[in-house]
Amino acid sequence: MMPEGEPGRTWWKHGTLYQIYPRSYQDSNGDGVGDLRGIINRLDHLQNLGVDGIWLDPITVSPNDDWGYDVSDYCDVDPALGTLADAEELVTEAAKRGIRIILDLVPNHSSDQHPWFKEAISSRDSAKRDWYVWADPKPDGSPPNNWRNIFDPRRPAWTFDEASGQYYLNQFLASQPDLNWWNPLVRDAFDDILRFWFDRGVAGFRIDVCHAVVKDAELRDNPPTTSDDHWYEQMHGVKQVYNASRPEVHDVIRRWRTLADSYTPKRILVGETYVLDPNRLAEFYGNGDDELNLAFNFHLVHAEFNAAELRSAVELAEKLLPANAWPTWTGGNHDNHRWMSRWCGNDPAKARVGMVMFMGLRGTPFLYYGDEIAMPDTEVGPDRILDPVGKTHGPRLGRDNERTPMHWTASAGAGYSEAGVEPWLPYGDYAACNVADQTADVDSMLEFTRELIALRRATPELQTAPYITHPASDDRLWAWTRGSLLVALNMTNEQTEIAGTNGTCLLHTDRSLDGMAVDGRLSLSPWSAAIIQT
Ligand code: NOJ
Repeated sequence: MMPEGEPGRTWWKHGTLYQIYPRSYQDSNGDGVGDLRGIINRLDHLQNLGVDGIWLDPITVSPNDDWGYDVSDYCDVDPALGTLADAEELVTEAAKRGIRIILDLVPNHSSDQHPWFKEAISSRDSAKRDWYVWADPKPDGSPPNNWRNIFDPRRPAWTFDEASGQYYLNQFLASQPDLNWWNPLVRDAFDDILRFWFDRGVAGFRIDVCHAVVKDAELRDNPPTTSDDHWYEQMHGVKQVYNASRPEVHDVIRRWRTLADSYTPKRILVGETYVLDPNRLAEFYGNGDDELNLAFNFHLVHAEFNAAELRSAVELAEKLLPANAWPTWTGGNHDNHRWMSRWCGNDPAKARVGMVMFMGLRGTPFLYYGDEIAMPDTEVGPDRILDPVGKTHGPRLGRDNERTPMHWTASAGAGYSEAGVEPWLPYGDYAACNVADQTADVDSMLEFTRELIALRRATPELQTAPYITHPASDDRLWAWTRGSLLVALNMTNEQTEIAGTNGTCLLHTDRSLDGMAVDGRLSLSPWSAAIIQT
């Protein structure tokens, strides 16, 4: 059910991966919500783009308090998105086009509507009580420790259950109780869930909150937070000591890896490793072969879009990752404003430079749906906020803006849904930026992205050669070699050049320069980038 591999090529290392937020990709039944049938109908776009695999945000059954990240049945498809048969058809149809399907696994917490939690909360003696993290109040009635809630650090990470007189841990919403990964039955149950989907030809999992599923067995206090802490200190930073990145989480990841490796072809694990310390991130690759296949690098996501910060994030990872570990790069996802808007201020020239970076680095690029057309964030007004973080903190910190419907065409409904149907989140300006218009335009971002992906696919050095910093790099110009190729990004408003370069330009952000001979000097106009065969 998975596509045949190509000799000498490992799809998840050498290919390009693409994230789809299923509710926002394509609505096939006119209800204003994207669905699996819609994704099946858009597979040709993904094949033309040249992607090797797609990661779908959760498709499993959910009350949708956190839009799929609150799972009430791990082995069935949410009715708003389709059926299990649709998921199987998606795997099969994608495979026909050489595309693998990666699903989202949410093991840190379930929904409070999951039968496990309903049973757990029913009484202190329930057989499922110990599937979640329960603890007695302190003598004064306050929560068992000082852990803060990730969605709202002003609150404790604990919710009091009046009926039983105990607190349960919820690092996210109160309706997302944390599972107890010290319980062997929880580990077994998740083995079964992994097998359920692997047996259906799913190629791997992106693992939600991967770094934090195991908590300190003694529930010790984190270092206290202060009023001037950045909220990331409590979420992903140095103060997250006992509720994340515990040594024992690696046992769980190794167990999943053994299971994934037992399949033919091997399945893969991609971690949402939201740790900002690059040393810690490296640990999630284990010895390079026994934990995650790919670990998302949020140090890069959080960097500013300038040569100094991006280069430093990349080079730290290059230095710290185990020898046979494989980096992965993305500018964002459904939790971060689109890099087109956040990094590039919606400047199309900068978007092209960013795309060259992702395709030119050593490591697997992950595109977020819409990146290929440089789709910007859509501002979602206060009256349309659906994300629980947006409801608590307002639209700026909320995550709706990056989750709005894909822009396929300039006609009413954006090619996403039927004309006149109100989409679940607002459309944004689909006339300004859409797949259909860019398909017809050889100088569009879509064609540029497609050519870049094709170049990477056709050029073994772009896939596998080591990353070596070019000596011309400084805080504004970032250049590196991959074997006999030179990748150069001018991230300034000024003309710049790299002396001592001879060769042919394989791809330039200014397409009229593709194929240009470089004779001694590579000249780069403001905010431009090129890949040179030297
Ligand atoms: C990370 C997911 O990417 C995010 O969307 C979700 O809200 C939290 N984990 C909780 O599951």
